[in-house]
Amino acid sequence: MWTAEAGIADPYPVYDELRERQPVYFNANLGAYFLTRYADVEQVLTGPEFRTPDGAWADENKPGWRDHPSTRFMHTSLLYQNPPDHSRLRRLLSRGFTTRRIEAQRPTVEENVDRVLGRLADLGAGGAVVDLQDTVSFPLPVSVIGDLVGVPRPDQPQFRWLIDDMSKLFDPVIDGDTLKRADDATVQVRAYFQDLLTFRRGTPADDLVSVLAASDAEDDEAIDLLALVFGAGFETTTGLVGNATRALVTFPDQARLLPELATAVFDEALRWDSAAQMVLRVTGRATRIGDVDVPEGVAVTGFLGAANRDPARFPDPASFDLRRQDARPLSLGGGTHFCLGAALARLQADVLFAQLFTRFPNLTLAGEPVRRKVLAMRGFDSLPVVI
Ligand code: HEM
Repeated sequence: MWTAEAGIADPYPVYDELRERQPVYFNANLGAYFLTRYADVEQVLTGPEFRTPDGAWADENKPGWRDHPSTRFMHTSLLYQNPPDHSRLRRLLSRGFTTRRIEAQRPTVEENVDRVLGRLADLGAGGAVVDLQDTVSFPLPVSVIGDLVGVPRPDQPQFRWLIDDMSKLFDPVIDGDTLKRADDATVQVRAYFQDLLTFRRGTPADDLVSVLAASDAEDDEAIDLLALVFGAGFETTTGLVGNATRALVTFPDQARLLPELATAVFDEALRWDSAAQMVLRVTGRATRIGDVDVPEGVAVTGFLGAANRDPARFPDPASFDLRRQDARPLSLGGGTHFCLGAALARLQADVLFAQLFTRFPNLTLAGEPVRRKVLAMRGFDSLPVVI
């Protein structure tokens, strides 16, 4: 029996079974297809016959979506816009995230890594158990993206659980309580960015809020972009840091390859246990996926975590192997919506994993990790370690 609990604990046996038995699986209750092969998921990400589920699609398929702040945010955000609206919104952000701009962040990322590892050393002194998520995995990315966006440091911690509530909306099935929490969180996060935008109009600074305040974006658009970039900027990276560290303490022979192979951690950790587990698309016209005919206008979910463990693409897919050649996972999406922050997330992982196990060679788990209660995003609420 497939349950959300089992999927949260370990989705990989379910993915393997689906890939073997029904790689293009139609769930009649949800009226949606679910894909588990690398080639099929890649087709959905890059093929012109697929669109993201924008407002026009939601009007037909999700009655009442405009009445909920969270679903309104979701279906009108950059993530769920199609060209030409998508291209216009993405242009407002893309200048701040070029490879050159991100590489210029290296000294700042190094300072942040140094600070969080210093705190890990302090809290873990004398064999004390420390939660890696509270100490490293969340504080590192939230301060990096928070400074770029322009969210003052003291304000940053409150967003961890607000964005957590919002991200649960990406699961294929959600209950009323989850929707209510996502709505409340969306209202709070949007109100925060409305205030910040208004403030920066009068007092500009060197940050993304000020760039958008000075642009020709409507207020609602600017607020949604800021909320998305900030949330997406720390949420998945927090997942990545925890998942990668968990993999490295589980396979100490791999941790011993650090720091030499530090830059391989990002791709292999995302491949082995992806922080983002699914992408949602809809068919813009009738099409064929594998050997299945799929009609126009239906939802198709690509399981990124399943594609990344497809034996047709990766030899011995369940083994975590930093020496793997051509790891290139689908965890950052692809095509028009390819992750805007990929270079920033990679930079943080490169700097962190060049140091973590050199500074703390005895880092080990010190209790049962607690998984996040969401299928679409994979990470830990808590990861107890000793250094
Ligand atoms: C390891 C960390 C990360 C992972 C696994 C990840 C994953 C993804 C994925 C799968 C998508 C595409 C979703 C889709 O096509 O439906 C995406 C898009 C996006 N990501 Fe990331 N992301 C990460 C880090 C970041 C960071 C650091 C930022 C900060 C700028 C960011 C900002 C965005 C934005 C704004 C989009 C929407 C792009 C668009 O729709 O055009 N992400 N990310």
